[in-house]
Amino acid sequence: MTVRTKIIAGNWKMNNGIAETGEFFTKLETWFGADEIGKKAAAAVRSGKIEIVVAPVLTSIATAVASAKKGCKDLVGISAQNAYFEKKGAFTGEVSLGMLEEAGCKYVILGHSERRHVFGESDELLQKKLAAALVSKLLPIFCVGELLSERESGKTNDVLKKQLNRAWLDTDGDLLAEKLAIAYEPVWAIGTGKTASSDDAQNACAFIRELIAETFGINAAEKIRILYGGSVKAENSAGILEQNDIDGLLIGGASVEAESFAKIITAAL
Ligand code: 13P
Repeated sequence: MTVRTKIIAGNWKMNNGIAETGEFFTKLETWFGADEIGKKAAAAVRSGKIEIVVAPVLTSIATAVASAKKGCKDLVGISAQNAYFEKKGAFTGEVSLGMLEEAGCKYVILGHSERRHVFGESDELLQKKLAAALVSKLLPIFCVGELLSERESGKTNDVLKKQLNRAWLDTDGDLLAEKLAIAYEPVWAIGTGKTASSDDAQNACAFIRELIAETFGINAAEKIRILYGGSVKAENSAGILEQNDIDGLLIGGASVEAESFAKIITAAL
């Protein structure tokens, strides 16, 4: 059986400016260096048991990259929250994958439900973004998930299938297996305090893994990491992480403060 390194990723959304980012990393540095559990977390990253990721706002990326490198000794990888698929040009307000890589990012979140539902990003646009990310140096964390009305009408699996089949259309399975992580984030559980039950989260993630196996084969299905996101807190993370098909967490609100993020990392040790 393939052992997949767990990813504990914090998506800060539009939180933590430059000063707060500096403070967050100072606290994490102290935790890694001086706290017994923090030292265990650092050892778990070094041994490849877990990967820790933080996705700051664009203006905080430089501070996060510098702090993660110096104080946190590369124990934390920095992610962007979004990117455009073109390399450069007249695209006001956008940023390219290459520019994010140059800024020191290692990951990029794509297709987050707030991008889909607040900013109107379509499956077609996300297909282009994922294709561009897969051939870039960044590792994409591609988000999918159903609305409450879709869950209540029994359409969860149909929605996941539609979002993923469009996103990876014409994609090479080997590339996908090597680079992709998927985050299952039911929209009704994001920022609402309602977490999917461990069983519901497991069922959706198992469905995604079966879909990968049917489309790209067992090798890809065994390699691709599938994360859960939606009202994850220190109290519920261990139960979610022990599910067979869940390889990590994408955390919003509880990742903004170093203390609560550290508690969630602890649950993955
Ligand atoms: P919350 O953890 O705040 O529900 O957000 C989840 C999320 O959207 C992470 O990307």
